[in-house]
Amino acid sequence: MNKLLISLVLSLGMAGSVHAAQGDAEAGAGKVATCAACHGGDGNSAQPSFPKLAGLGEKYLYKQLLDVKEGRRVIVEMTGILDPLSDQDLLDIAAYYDAQVPSMGVADADLAARGEEIYRGGNLATGLPACTGCHSPTGKGNDPAGYPRLAGQHAAYTAKQLTNFREGVRDNDGEGMIMRTIAGRLSNKDIEAVSNYIQGLR
Ligand code: HEC
Ligand code: HEC
Repeated sequence: MNKLLISLVLSLGMAGSVHAAQGDAEAGAGKVATCAACHGGDGNSAQPSFPKLAGLGEKYLYKQLLDVKEGRRVIVEMTGILDPLSDQDLLDIAAYYDAQVPSMGVADADLAARGEEIYRGGNLATGLPACTGCHSPTGKGNDPAGYPRLAGQHAAYTAKQLTNFREGVRDNDGEGMIMRTIAGRLSNKDIEAVSNYIQGLR
C-alpha cells in the first residue's frame, strides 16, 4: 500500500471509531443525580410539565441532550446543567434513561377517540400524515431513526411540544422541518386530543 492509501484507511478507521462511540447505561446511572429531581431517578417524572425520559430512544435522547447543551433547544429549567458534562457523559445518560421502563398513563376517553383518528389516520383534507408511520402503531417510536417514543408521555408536555413546533418556538427538528410541518396542520383541539390519546397509548 502506498502512503496515501494507508493514511486514508487510518483516517476512515478513526472516523468509524468516533461513530461507534457508545453509551454505557451502568455508567449513566451514576450521572443522573441532578436530573432525578425533575425527571425521576427511573425517568418517570411525576410532574406533567417535566417529560418522562424512560425508553424514549437512545439516539433521540442523545440528540436532545446535545441540542440543549449547544443551545439549539432552549430549556430554561436546564440552564447550565449540561455544561460540565462530556460527550461520553451525555451518551451514558442517554443509554441509562433509554434502558428504564416507561410508566403507563391514562387517556380522557372523550378526547382519545378523536386523538386516535389523528394518530392512526392523519387528516387527508389538510395533508396531515398519520403519526404511526414514524412513531409506530404502539407509540414506541423507532430508535435507530431517531423517532422518539411517545406512548405514555404526559399530555401536557406533548401538547406543549406540538404547539412549540407549530409556532416555531421549538425548531430542532432538522432542515426537513418534519415536526414543524406536521404540527402546522394541527388545530388547538387536535393537539389536545392527540396528546391525550398518546398519554394512554401502550
Ligand atoms: C429543574 C428541572 C429540570 C432538571 C433538574 C433537569 N431537567 Fe431535563 N427537562 C426539564 C423540562 C421542563 C423539560 C421540557 C422543556 C420543554 O417543555 O420543552 C426537560 C427536557 C429534557 C429532555 C428532552 C426530553 C424530550 O422528550 O424531548 C431531556 C433529554 C432532558 N430534559 C434530560 C435531562 C437530564 C439528563 C438532566 C440532568 C443532567 C435534566 N434533564 C435535568 C426540566 C429539568
Ligand atoms: C416523518 C416522520 C414523523 C411523523 C409522520 C411524525 N413525527 Fe413526530 N417526530 C419525528 C421526529 C424525527 C421527531 C424528533 C425531532 C427532534 O429530533 O427534535 C419527532 C418528535 C415528536 C415529538 C416530540 C417528542 C418529545 O419527547 O419531545 C412529538 C410530541 C411528536 N413528534 C408528535 C407527533 C405526532 C402527534 C404526529 C402525528 C400527528 C407525529 N409526531 C408524526 C418524526 C415524525
